Amino acid sequence: MERRELLRLLATAGALPLLAPLARAAGTTDDWQAQFEAADVPWKIGFATPPGDLPLTRATVRGRFPDAVAGTLFRIGPAGHDLGGERYHHWFDGDGMVHRFVIEGADVRHQGRYVATPKRVAEVKAGRHLTEAFGTMPPGVEPPTSADAINVANTSVLPMQGEVLALWEGGSATRIDARTLDTLGVKTWRADLAGMPFSAHPKVDPDGTVWNFGVSSGQSLLALYEIAPGGALRRAAVVPVPELPMVHDFAVTARHLVFLMPPLVYDSKRKEAGASFLDAHVWRPELGMRALVVDKQDWDKRQLFELPAGFLFHVGNAWEEDTPRGARIHIDYVRTQNAESVFTSNREVMRARRVRRNEPRLTVATLDLGTGKATQRELPLEAEFPRIDPRRVGLRHRQVVHATQTRADVPGFGAVARTDIESGRSQRFSYGAQAIVEEHVFVPDGAKAGWVLGTALDFGRQRTVLSCFAADHLAAGPVAQATLPYALPLGLHGAFVKA
Ligand SMILES: [Fe+2]
Repeated sequence: MERRELLRLLATAGALPLLAPLARAAGTTDDWQAQFEAADVPWKIGFATPPGDLPLTRATVRGRFPDAVAGTLFRIGPAGHDLGGERYHHWFDGDGMVHRFVIEGADVRHQGRYVATPKRVAEVKAGRHLTEAFGTMPPGVEPPTSADAINVANTSVLPMQGEVLALWEGGSATRIDARTLDTLGVKTWRADLAGMPFSAHPKVDPDGTVWNFGVSSGQSLLALYEIAPGGALRRAAVVPVPELPMVHDFAVTARHLVFLMPPLVYDSKRKEAGASFLDAHVWRPELGMRALVVDKQDWDKRQLFELPAGFLFHVGNAWEEDTPRGARIHIDYVRTQNAESVFTSNREVMRARRVRRNEPRLTVATLDLGTGKATQRELPLEAEFPRIDPRRVGLRHRQVVHATQTRADVPGFGAVARTDIESGRSQRFSYGAQAIVEEHVFVPDGAKAGWVLGTALDFGRQRTVLSCFAADHLAAGPVAQATLPYALPLGLHGAFVKA
């Protein structure tokens, strides 16, 4: 198939093939909204729906934020979880709300705004859900006309050229004004790429080059993007990958793109029978966890590896070393035995139920390009939301900042940790039994140890806090903390931009 034809297919169908008739008839009701409202668990505030945008508000600050973190922390996550009394059945379904925390010494201000996607604008106007979502098929919804018709822009952010791109993984990035958080429309990298999937975890090389991918589940096609530091598209192409599964994140090394592919594979027959996008995926452990390594310079040079079956959302980093028998890639990621949590834990929180499933462990895999062999070792550490020093992307690193510490009766994680993946040494700060930690990012400070910056939901006090830690003294607790006069919905990812 010609590249032009592949691009046309991708652009037409986006990540989500058009739908067959729906399984649930119009007028069917469900009681998730009532169950959520009736639940007597204080943490459910993290999954509540803010009724509207949150105007710029000053936080109460204890301590002083260091000069290196003067700037803006942008964050995003699903926030619009219900509409017209109908609640989504998955955490990842909700309309995205983008946040900015403007940090300057002892002054911290916060603003939050819903991303005005075409889906949100139309649904708010109608007062009800009009289309399907990632894990929910609301009753009576129409099949989407394109992937961007159901784009909720709720997963991650990529600051670029005075704008922030609000990312989802099934369709286009959405342009946001970094100062006002106004929604400016979808990002089109090149006319023939309009509407193509642009995933939520682009990687930025130390020289500023941005790499990203997109998965077209129906067609088993992997889109690849290379974007120059100024934001201009250098290259895009699509690569066929047999039985291409759900891929949420990837890694880059100095010379390669690395995709870990869990065996969670899209089945178009399930979709045609009315399943949600998520429920159209089948767990096929016989495929193992495949690792696809693509040459950065020549995307036709590709090599496949196989690891034991497992599931992941997130990768920390990858780097490669030369050995006498060829290059060897090291990649760290957070691995679970299977994909159960995405079908259960991340769903049941929407009716305020805690379901505990196998927890993700920090894992380091080694891919030997000379022998074609892959091995891995699991660290005895629960982890999610891994982040590294942005100056080390694709290069050898040791320190990973991540969430850790699961609890029996509260979803998510209670502590932030910094772990040396070579020695296994780890230090952590626990936010306590009444808090859920969100992603923390590493902020460099020249040749010094740097800082760890992130938010947590203090559901005991019904407040969101922003904390800054000295990276080499994480366990000592925050050097500065800003407390908002309200709680934010639990979010996913963020990015710090220095003032
Ligand atoms: Fe993610």
